[in-house]
Order: sequence, then structure tokens, then C-alpha cells
Amino acid sequence: MYIRPFKVEQWMNEWETKAVYNLGETCVDSLRIDELLKLCGEDPAEYLRKLGGVRLTYGHIEGSPELRRGIASLYGGIPSDNVIPTHGAIGANYQVIMTLVGRGDNVVCVKPTYQQHYSIPESIGAEVRPLQLKYEEKFLPNLDELNRLADKNTKLITINNPNNPTGSWIPDETTRAIVKIAERVGAYVLSDEVYRGISEGGEYMTSIVDLYDKGISVGSMSKVFSLAGLRLGWIAAKDMSVREACLARRDYDTISCGVLDDMLSALALGHKESIFERNRTIIAKNRAILDEWVEKTPCVEYVRPTAGTTALVYCRKNIASRELSIRLLKEKGVLTTPGECFDLEGCVRIGYAYDSKQLQIGLDKIAEMLGEI
Ligand SMILES: Cc1ncc(COP(=O)(O)O)c(C=O)c1O
Repeated sequence: MYIRPFKVEQWMNEWETKAVYNLGETCVDSLRIDELLKLCGEDPAEYLRKLGGVRLTYGHIEGSPELRRGIASLYGGIPSDNVIPTHGAIGANYQVIMTLVGRGDNVVCVKPTYQQHYSIPESIGAEVRPLQLKYEEKFLPNLDELNRLADKNTKLITINNPNNPTGSWIPDETTRAIVKIAERVGAYVLSDEVYRGISEGGEYMTSIVDLYDKGISVGSMSKVFSLAGLRLGWIAAKDMSVREACLARRDYDTISCGVLDDMLSALALGHKESIFERNRTIIAKNRAILDEWVEKTPCVEYVRPTAGTTALVYCRKNIASRELSIRLLKEKGVLTTPGECFDLEGCVRIGYAYDSKQLQIGLDKIAEMLGEI
């Protein structure tokens, strides 16, 4: 089964370790284990002693009760039986698409987004109908366009909310309108919600699962929880037949998630407010740095991100995005992600939720480079 190379992952694999100023990162500044334990009110020495007694079996095959309760607490009204832990959100997306989509189906998928959402269905032989998000529409889904694209063969409508790379966040009334269209054609809505949790106004955004019986939410510990190293994500779905079908497939490619990943994720979810408080502060500070930079830098513009950890910054210079990103790395030590990784030109993705100092210096160096082009 041929699958297209995953552009953004290949880009990061090739360049991430070579950066001096990392503006490619999409996680909110990742936590060390001792930082996590402190945020959760645990004594690190005591906790590590407790870990020493943990037997490294396969653990709870479908996730420990504490973990599933913690995940379910992120949603308005689903019991913990309705969540399935996976290997990251990447495992969750894969699981859902491979389970629900077949040859001959079509999938309507917002673009730009995480490439899994269009390249996996394409590799299965499904028809992918991109719903292009546009700068002039603030990167929000165009409902007329969606209405036109969805038909009786649409198995899945995929959104990414908040969106990577644009940092846009679909308001509830628009999500409700998307649900109406999905209902009309009988499609599931897969909402990749890995960046859900920290919005500018502080709200915990509504999940698709709380708006649609055939809504499927994918989340993970990686981004807003700052714990990508745990490699723990999940699928949350109201529809029990989706759960059963995903679990049946999961026996073939997952068995269980790691015992330590499960334990630490459950702990973090039990203290989510402390982690969110830390991360809200980082994001607010860094978003202000980005805003100020865009304001004062000639020839750059963006749709101001209102959620998530990334922004798509347009540079009005005559240079291909990949060439610009490579020059930024080689000449200035700054890692950005070229728009080309998302099939876009004229822009680079900036991940702004990492270290404030690196962000400030990195942005200044981008301005310097643009002045030289
Ligand atoms: C939109 C989106 N979905 C899924 C993932 C994968 O995340 P995880 O680390 O949970 O596997 C990413 C990672 O960048 C992402 O941006």
C-alpha cells in the first residue's frame, strides 16, 4: 500500500536537531518528569520510589480506569467506557480512519491540516475532497463549500480544531452547521482536537463529541499537556459501534499503551488545571511577542491565531517557502516549517509556545533575513 511521504514529519526529522532557535516546535514547552510531579503535588523522590514497584506487564489493555476517567473528564457527557487510549493522537487518527474508511468512500477534509487526515484515506483508495481553508476567510471552513463537497458517499468529514498550522478555532455555531451537513449525508465527523484546551479567552472549547452523536474526538497528552514523550493519545466517541470497531482493529496494532505512559498521563489529567495554568501563561506571553513582531515587521502578515500553538506567517517576498526555511536554518539558525509541508506557498509556520527567548531572537532573525532578500 503506497502512502505519500509525511512532509511535516520528514521536515522535522531532518532539521529539528540542527536548529539554534526552535520555532518549529508545536508542543507547549515540554515538561520534565520532576516538573510534572511538582505541578501534580507529588514529591519526586517518593513518586520515583513508588514507580520502582510497578511491574512492567502489558497493564490494562484498554487503559487503566484512572486514565479513562481522566480523559472522559475532558468532555461534557461521555462515560469513561467511551474512550480508547492510543499511541499518541497519531495512533488515534490512524485507527479511526483505517477503521471507518474504505475504498469507494469519500472523505471531506479541511486543508491545511495534519497530513494523516488526507494521505491515509488516499492510500486506502478513498477519494479525498479537500475543503481549503482560506486566509481571507480567517482559515475557517466555508460551509457552502462543505455542503457542495459532502454527498451520500461521504464517510468522514475531518476537521482539526484548533487548527495546525493556522491557529484558527472554529466557533461552536459553525461546528453545529458542520454537524447539520454531516447529518444530511450520514457522515461521521472526526475532529482532531490535540490543540484543544487553551484558548485566548480561557474557555475550554466544546468538543465535537458533545455536539454530534457521530462525532469522534482525537486528543493527546502531547501539545497542551506538554507531555509528548508519553506517546499517549485517545479516541473519544459516543457511538459505541465506533468504539467496538476501533478496539477490534487496535488488537492488531497496539495491544495496550505503556504502563508508565498510562500512569503519568492519568496523574497529569487528574491535575490538568495546574498544567493548563502554566501553559496559558506561556502561550499568552509568547503570543504577545509574536503579535508585536508581526505588527512592527514590514512585509509579514498573518491571521492572528486565537488558539493552539502555531501561526501561519505570510512573508511577502518572492521566495519559495522551502528555500526560505532552509536559508533561515543555515544562515540564521532558525527552524520554521515551510508552507510547502502543508501544500501552501508564501508562508512559514511558526510554533510559538516554546521558549520565549528563543522565540524573540528567532523572530528578529527572520526579520533580518527578510531584509536581506
Ligand atoms: C493536528 C495534529 N494531530 C496529531 C498530531 C500527533 O500528535 P501526537 O504527538 O499526540 O501523536 C499532531 C502533531 O503534531 C498534530 O499537529
